[in-house]
This record gives sequence, C-alpha cells and structure tokens, in this order.
Amino acid sequence: MRIDIITIFPDMFKNILNESIIKRAQAKRKVKIFVHNLRDYTLDKHRKVDDRPFGGGSGMVMSAEPIFRAVEKIRTKNKALRTKAKIVLLSPQGKRLNQGLAKKLAKSKHLILVCGHYEGIDERVRQYLVDEEISIGDYVLTGGELAAMVLVDTLVRLIPGVLGDKNSLKFESFEGNLLEYPQYTRPADFRAIKVPSILLSGDHQKINQWRKKEALRITRLKRPDLFNGGIKK
Ligand code: ADE
Repeated sequence: MRIDIITIFPDMFKNILNESIIKRAQAKRKVKIFVHNLRDYTLDKHRKVDDRPFGGGSGMVMSAEPIFRAVEKIRTKNKALRTKAKIVLLSPQGKRLNQGLAKKLAKSKHLILVCGHYEGIDERVRQYLVDEEISIGDYVLTGGELAAMVLVDTLVRLIPGVLGDKNSLKFESFEGNLLEYPQYTRPADFRAIKVPSILLSGDHQKINQWRKKEALRITRLKRPDLFNGGIKK
C-alpha cells in the first residue's frame, strides 16, 4: 500500500511515522508513506493556501488550486503503478471511521489523504477531486492532521504481515462486533487480587468459552449498540 498525505503541517507527522509499528511496516516495505507540504504546490510567492470566503463571513477557506495541483502531481508521478488512487478528505462532515470502514480502505493500493483546515475547503475539491470524505468522530479538530494520523495507524496495522501474530487481529476488539475479553499477565496473585482460576487451568476449550462469555458481557455492558450492527465485518 502507498499513502500520500497532503498537509500544511508536514512536521506533525514526523514522530508518528518514525515510531513503533508504522515505522516497522515501512521498513518491511508493507507500506510506503509520503508527506507533502501543500505550500509547495502554490503558485504565488507568499505560498498562500487559503483565501476569504465568497459571500462574506468569518475565517478563511482553503483554495482549490494547490490541492488539485498536489493531487495531480502525486498521481502523474505514480503512473507506473497504474493504480487509481483514492482521494480521501479528512473532515468532520465525512463518513464516521470505524473498524469496518478501515478494513475496506485497507484493501486500497494507493490512498491520497487531504488534511482540511480553517473554516473549510473550497467545495469544488469535494465535488471534483475527493472520492471519500472521512471523519474520525463527532467533534471538531483544529485540522485534519490528527485525523489522518488516526486513519494511517488504523490502516497500517490491518495490512497483512504488519502485525507479527495473526491471532492478535482475530481476537481484538470489534472483531465479530464484540469488544475484547479481559486479559491478565503474571503474577497470578497481585496484591491479593487473583486472576480468574479458569485461565490457569490449561483447559483451552473452557478458556475459550469463558472468553466468549466475557466478551459478550463486556460488550453488553459498555457498547450495547454494537449488537445492532454497529460495525460491519
Ligand atoms: N477535521 C476536523 N475535525 C475532524 C474530524 N472529527 N474528523 C476528521 N477530520 C477533521
């Protein structure tokens, strides 16, 4: 998978892309991630990426020109890949990200993420450039960068071969519309609080039954909405 990120704050991505699993996934060549400074695609000497809204009103609007130019440049550079990149705009107006949507997007060969800012973005970007608009939740961030990082993190761990243990994907939260069962590690007795004895029994059939029951109990307690098809597989 290849991910290009278009942003006015490229430095924000440095840490997140150079740590932990995302770093390892790039080293293992499971994903290639490129961050582009939107200002490099402006045409004026002030490298302006925004302007006042037509019709008046407060704040500034992101201009269409630099965003179109950035996307077109990334696309033409990668003609050899012959992939139709999916253009994703991060915005609070988008479809809400969940594990089901992440799984669909994780199958893409090439994503171009556009981080929105200010009061908004010229509507022609939405109409003529963007394939999918995604929100990471019903709250407003100062910009799309944190949302893009959340999306990248969620997608990268779903790419086959990125996580060492295949089971860690199979049994994690949201798999089968359930939250994860409780986990314990050593010591079995911590400050007189004991691990459920069944987990020490060595009876794997019983342990699996207990885990399933606990996953159901926790989901019913914390996220009953998941039973109503909250997340598609
Ligand atoms: N930009 C601002 N708020 C956002 C959100 N909740 N999701 C995605 N992008 C955003």
